[in-house]
Amino acid sequence: MMDWGMQNRINRIIKPDTGKTLMFAVDHGYFMGPTSGLEQLDQTIEPLLPYADSLMLTRGALRYYTDPRVDVPIIMRVSGGTSILNKNLLHEGITVSMEDAIRMNASAVAFSILVGSDFERDTLLAFTQVVDEAERYGIPTLAVTAVGKALVRDARYLSLASRIAAELGARIVKTYYCENFERVINTCPVPVVIAGGKKIPEMDALTMAYNAIQTGAAGVDMGRNIFQSDAPVAMVQAVRAVVHNNATPAEAFEMYEEIKNR
Ligand code: 5RP
Repeated sequence: MMDWGMQNRINRIIKPDTGKTLMFAVDHGYFMGPTSGLEQLDQTIEPLLPYADSLMLTRGALRYYTDPRVDVPIIMRVSGGTSILNKNLLHEGITVSMEDAIRMNASAVAFSILVGSDFERDTLLAFTQVVDEAERYGIPTLAVTAVGKALVRDARYLSLASRIAAELGARIVKTYYCENFERVINTCPVPVVIAGGKKIPEMDALTMAYNAIQTGAAGVDMGRNIFQSDAPVAMVQAVRAVVHNNATPAEAFEMYEEIKNR
């Protein structure tokens, strides 16, 4: 049985009534800078927050772009150290102390591990440091896996990276959808959410989310496919229908079109 605080924080993120979550990710700036759609991050997130179960962002984005009256649980990005200009993209270390994450009322912390990269050991050992610190305060750690261009995101790799994350202590794993995704889900002992990845047509993103949910994912941690959509407020509601209401891709896309055209 988890301690009460840990369980309560997880329940604020993964909703008990559906067992699912729509995490809205806007943490990209820590290595991508003002990426398209996040130039004025505060204006981007404001109309979308009512539809998100949680908000994933950096310490700086929380401090400079988010109103303290926000009532969605915060998943704070606590890894970083490289940018898109670096050939070793995402050779990440710890960038936020647990004390500051707690001070800013994070409900969870997120850290990228680079399984298979030359520096996988650094990222895995730093990840376990974060897990140890977070567990001390009943804060769940979200392991972010499989980011970075050089990786083949197939079921073999994603199940390896996701299981390593869980074995090292992650409470939630974020990975990507792939063929034979059930292999990832069935070999990972903690909830798995999928990142959206680069922007793709709305119907494709909704289909990906649907397939992941149907395979047993606990939800999505989606960013660009929401905030780079032609109609982000319509898209976040369509994604929500897939995640929480079992809407089919066709139903969700119809909802997207209807809200977009209002
Ligand atoms: C970037 C991240 C993002 O949180 C994650 O990729 C989700 O965002 P998107 O749906 O845009 O991929 O970890 O490194």
